Amino acid sequence: MCGIVGYMGPQDGVPVVMDGLQKLEYRGYDSAGVATFQDGRITINRSVGKLRELEKKLFASELSGSPAIGHTRWATHGRPTEPNAHPHVYEGVVVVHNGIVENYIALREELAAAGHRFSSETDTEIISHLIARELARGLDFCQAVRAALNQVRGAFALGIMYEQEPEMLIAARKGSPLVVAHGSQQGEYYIASDIPALLAYSREVIFLDDDEMAVCSPAGMTIMTVADGREQQKEVHQIAWDPIMAEKGGYKHFMLKEIFEQPQAVSNTLLGRISEDRRKTDLQETGFTPADWRAVKKIMILACGTSWHAGLVGKFWLERLARIPTEIDIASEFRYRDPLVEEGTLLIGISQSGETADTLAALREGKDKGAKILSICNVMGSSISRQSDGVMYTYAGPEIGVASTKAFTTQLACLMLLALDMAAARKTMDDEEIAENVEALLKLPALLEKSLILAPRLEQIARTYHHASDYLFLARGLNYPIALEGALKLKEISYIHAEGYPAGEMKHGPIALIDENMPVVILAPHDHHYEKVVSNLQEVVARDGRVIAFTASTDKRLADLSHEVVKIEEPGEILNPLVYVIPLQLLAYYTAVFKGTDVDQPRNLAKSVTVE
Ligand code: M6R
Repeated sequence: MCGIVGYMGPQDGVPVVMDGLQKLEYRGYDSAGVATFQDGRITINRSVGKLRELEKKLFASELSGSPAIGHTRWATHGRPTEPNAHPHVYEGVVVVHNGIVENYIALREELAAAGHRFSSETDTEIISHLIARELARGLDFCQAVRAALNQVRGAFALGIMYEQEPEMLIAARKGSPLVVAHGSQQGEYYIASDIPALLAYSREVIFLDDDEMAVCSPAGMTIMTVADGREQQKEVHQIAWDPIMAEKGGYKHFMLKEIFEQPQAVSNTLLGRISEDRRKTDLQETGFTPADWRAVKKIMILACGTSWHAGLVGKFWLERLARIPTEIDIASEFRYRDPLVEEGTLLIGISQSGETADTLAALREGKDKGAKILSICNVMGSSISRQSDGVMYTYAGPEIGVASTKAFTTQLACLMLLALDMAAARKTMDDEEIAENVEALLKLPALLEKSLILAPRLEQIARTYHHASDYLFLARGLNYPIALEGALKLKEISYIHAEGYPAGEMKHGPIALIDENMPVVILAPHDHHYEKVVSNLQEVVARDGRVIAFTASTDKRLADLSHEVVKIEEPGEILNPLVYVIPLQLLAYYTAVFKGTDVDQPRNLAKSVTVE
C-alpha cells in the first residue's frame, strides 16, 4: 500500500529516494516524507498530499545526504496529516513502514506507561520507540532492531536509520514486499517496496523473505533472520523489465499508455508458450505435467478486483474447454468461510502485483488444507509467486496506473493457454480443435490493435455521457465479467456509480433504475446469446434508457435500436472478452479525463493492497 525507498552510498541519497518514490507513488499518495543525514544529524521533511508537495519543501530546504529513506503513504492508522506522515523518529531512530502493527494498542499502552510520548496516531511510530527502548537497554543497532521486531505482530516492510550509526541502513520484511539491491559502487545499496523504484539503478535484485532483514554498511550487505540473526544466502534475480517501461513515454497518463500496450503485452505473454508448429501450448515452465492436469478433480480460483474478473472468464474457459469443475471466490471471502478443499483441488491465484494480502492469505489457507497452487502473476519474485507450486508470469511489464488494464488482458491470455493445455492433457478437445484455438490466440494481438483504433469514438461517447451520475453495464455468458470490469474501471477513475449485471437479471431489479438519464452499456457480441441480449436491449429502450451498444463489426440491427453503437472486430465467441474489454477501458479513461479526475491515482485507492 505504501511505498518505501532507501539509499546508502556515495551519491546524494535524496534525489535517488525521490526518484524511487515517484515510481512508487501508485502505492499510496496521501502524504510523503524523506529523512537523511545532513551535517551529521538526521533531518526529516514531510508533507500532506502528493509527492510534488514534498518536492517543493525539499527544494526550499535543500535537503541532501546519505543514507536516506523515504515513504509515500496510503493511510491505515491515523488520518493523512503531516504528523502521521512517515518517516517517524524517536530518539534518533527513524522508520518508514508499509504494513500494519496489529498489537500496536497494547504496545503503545506499555510504552506510554513507561513514559514514552507519541507525536503521531500511527502504528508505525511504535516501532521507532521499541527500537529506541532496546538501544537504551544496551543492545547495538542491529540487535535492537531484531529485539524490537520480535515484539511486533502483523505485517511490515521497513527502512530504518539511527542517528548514532550514520553508516548503517537496515531493511526488514514480514508480510509486506521489499527488495534490496547493490549499487555499482562499493558500499552502495538500494531498498524499495517494488522493482520499478530500482530499475534505473540496478536490475539485479534480492527479494527479502518474511522474517528477514538486510543490514547495509560500508563493509557490505548482510541478510539475516529477524528471529535469531542467522545469516542467509540469497539468490540474486535478474529483472527483465526496462527502466523505460516505467515511464509515460509521451502518453498523458500511464493508464492510456498501458491500454495501448495491450497488443504487445498479450503477444509477449503468448511468446514461448506455444509449440513451434503453432498447434499446441507448452506450459512446462509451470512445473505441472500433463499427468498433474489429469489428476485435477476441481479448480478453485482466488483473486480480487480486476484479477477476480479475469478469473470469472477463466472459470468459463476451464469448464468449457478442459471440463474441470471450477469455482471462483473473492479472496477476502474464501479465507473466512472455512472452505472445503477436497483432495485433487488445484488453487489458481491471480494477481497483478502478487502482493495482494487477501489473495495471499486465501492461498495460504488453501495450501494448509492440502491444495496445490498455481499462480498467475505479473511481478516476478512477488510473495504470491513464491508461495506457489508453479507460476505463469504475465509479461505485461510494470503496470503503474492504479486501474488495471494490461494485467487483465494478459491474465486472460494465461488462463486461455492454461485451459487449452489442460484440455489437451485430459483429451477433452481433439488436436484439431486445440490447433484452431491456438491459431486464434496468435491472431489476437492484431485484433486488439483494431479495438484500440476505436479510441476517438469512445472519446466522443465519453464527452456526451460524462455528466451521468449512474451507469449500467449489461452482458451475458463469458462477457458478463467484462460488464463487471467495465463498471469497475468507470467507478474507479471517474467516480461515477456503475454496476455490472448479467443482462438476463436486469428485469429482476435494476430495471427500476432505468430512465432517460441512465446510460446503459450493452455488450452484444455475435455469439449464441445475441438474440437474448437484443431483447434485453429493447427492454431498456422501452424505458427510455440511453443505450450504448458494443457489437460485432458485421452487425446490422443495433444501429437503429441504440443511441450509440460501437462495432468491434471479433476473434470468435471464445476470445471475445479480450477485444470487448478494451473499448470499455477507453470509455472509462476518457470519461475520467472529461471529469478532470486523477486518472492514474484515483482518490482513496492504491495499486497493491497489502493490508486486509
Ligand atoms: O495486484 P492484484 O491483481 O492482486 O490486485 C487486485 C485488485 O486490487 C486490483 O485488481 C484492483 O481492483 C484494481 N484497482 C482494478 O483496476
